[in-house]
Amino acid sequence: MEINQLLKKGANMIKGRQYGNPVLEATLLLGELLNVDNTHIYTHGKEEVSQVIVDKFLELMEKRSKGYPIQYIINKKEFMGLDFYVEEGVLIPRSDTEILVEYVLSYIEENHNNQPINILDIGIGSGAIGLSIAYYKRNVNVYGTDISDVSLKVANINKNRYNLDNVILMESNLFEGINEENRFHIIASNPPYIPKNDIETLQREVKDYEPMKALDGGKDGLDFYRRIIPDSKRYLIEKGLLIFEIGYDQGQQIKSMMTDEGFKDIKILKDLQGLDRVVLGVKERRS
Ligand SMILES: C[S@@+](CC[C@H](N)C(=O)[O-])C[C@H]1O[C@@H](n2cnc3c(N)ncnc32)[C@H](O)[C@@H]1O
Repeated sequence: MEINQLLKKGANMIKGRQYGNPVLEATLLLGELLNVDNTHIYTHGKEEVSQVIVDKFLELMEKRSKGYPIQYIINKKEFMGLDFYVEEGVLIPRSDTEILVEYVLSYIEENHNNQPINILDIGIGSGAIGLSIAYYKRNVNVYGTDISDVSLKVANINKNRYNLDNVILMESNLFEGINEENRFHIIASNPPYIPKNDIETLQREVKDYEPMKALDGGKDGLDFYRRIIPDSKRYLIEKGLLIFEIGYDQGQQIKSMMTDEGFKDIKILKDLQGLDRVVLGVKERRS
């Protein structure tokens, strides 16, 4: 079968799905199987594809048609200009999370440029936050923790992919595995923040296939913020930065939790849709 015909067939198999982009997804998958880039696919429409590849492609498109995320099929997700390896069991990085990373990168430039500072990423997942920071700021030391074996395995693959010897990964339930003597200039986290009862309402790609450990933030979605905000003060340097990704309607509640714990200069950053996406604040001098 020719590339064009196969693409059309594949895209048709998923065109009824509410989420995703059928032609792009079919192109990405076929490109992976043929080991060529999208441009090759677009410019070689008449090229014949072997039956083995046709069968594999149709089998995987069938899986995709049931809601299985394309990123798990191709084991890839682009984030901050880097290619992250992903597989089932780890959260697929979201482009909204780039807002937090970009803020941290410019904060480092303004406050700690070229200094060997320490950063902690709690719940590192595939490594989206911590590894991107470590990649673009080679002088910082990033500590990444997670409670999930798969996340740590995947983060380690990505760490090795980009030779990030400024990153230490460790299994830890929030701060439990962190030595009390460690002090961080920045603590960043994108913790699970979906209210338990809302998980059922999420799109199938997420609720059926992404890890519950990465989504479930307890009854009101705020469990992890309640635990991290007070404990973070023991691990932050004076004037250290605490920065979170948050759900679109959680900004004011998390801001008041941080105010109650004595954080200063608290700000809420919005995403491209104009929704609250990040909250940050600075640890005040005494605590
Ligand atoms: C929303 S995901 C974020 C993943 C990644 N940082 C990102 O932005 O793509 C939350 C992560 O927190 C981890 N996690 C859940 N409970 C945890 C805990 N008690 N201690 C440490 N990590 C935890 C999950 O395994 C998951 O990788």
